[in-house]
Amino acid sequence: MLDVVNLHHTYGTGPKAHRALGGIDLKVAEGELVCVVGPSGCGKSTLLRSIAGLIRPTEGHIHVGDVAVADTPGDLAVVFQDYSRSLFPWMSVVDNVALPLRRRGMDRAARRRAAAEALEEVGLTGAAAKYPWELSGGMQQRVAIARALAYRPALLLMDEPFGSVDAQTREDLEDLVLKVREHHRMTVLLITHDIDESVYVGDRVVVLTGAPARVAAELPVGLPFPRDQIATRELPAFVHLRAEVGRLVRAKGHPSDGESAA
Ligand SMILES: Nc1ncnc2c1ncn2[C@@H]1O[C@H](COP(=O)(O)OP(=O)(O)OP(=O)(O)O)[C@@H](O)[C@H]1O
Ligand SMILES: [Mg+2]
Repeated sequence: MLDVVNLHHTYGTGPKAHRALGGIDLKVAEGELVCVVGPSGCGKSTLLRSIAGLIRPTEGHIHVGDVAVADTPGDLAVVFQDYSRSLFPWMSVVDNVALPLRRRGMDRAARRRAAAEALEEVGLTGAAAKYPWELSGGMQQRVAIARALAYRPALLLMDEPFGSVDAQTREDLEDLVLKVREHHRMTVLLITHDIDESVYVGDRVVVLTGAPARVAAELPVGLPFPRDQIATRELPAFVHLRAEVGRLVRAKGHPSDGESAA
């Protein structure tokens, strides 16, 4: 479904150039949920923006399905890290969620129905007629998530989607993503700085190195489904994996040049 090959990206030129991505290889199979973790500022959002066709990487190839990414691929939805800039302030919440459904060729009534359903899934039925600026940060982020879910994309990209919600809502939204992925056979790439979360929702966790980011390790998760916020997190396999991922993220080093990392 997603194939990233030798992806490099450098921002700027000359002495101010910053190498964000240093050769990333990443495959995500259809229906798979892959989590990407890595040190702060290592290039996670750069990777996601490249896949979404929003920046043109310096080098490398990206395919979504059989199509090379040149512009934003059609059957894709993105939940951005910066929720405050991802909703239209002059449109009501339900209209924000319904807007992309025009591309699905749905009529107005069907669009509003699908938007209302998605808002119900994220627990925001009561906020449908409000404007984004009337909502808290966490609620705005849930609207952005509802909009992505309503679109039922083949590939869903999420950049720290639960960063600004409280712990209880965060758990609910993690479970919602798992449920939606299962019901609608979506492929999901989720970026998070939360190591526990990556192990809880992921089929696989990809750990990036510090800048320029490369893949330091890939760990298959293999925990049973359905996952449960209490029972899954108590499993010895869960505890072991989160420790392993934590060690890898903290090491920040590049495994192929061990001496310089030390
Ligand atoms: N438009 C830009 N122009 C120049 N440099 C940029 C730009 N966007 C990002 N960078 C730099 O590239 C590096 C990687 O940024 P990126 O946002 O991809 O990191 P990240 O892993 O998502 O960080 P965080 O964990 O804080 O979300 C950072 O050093 C950042 O300063
Ligand atoms: Mg980021």
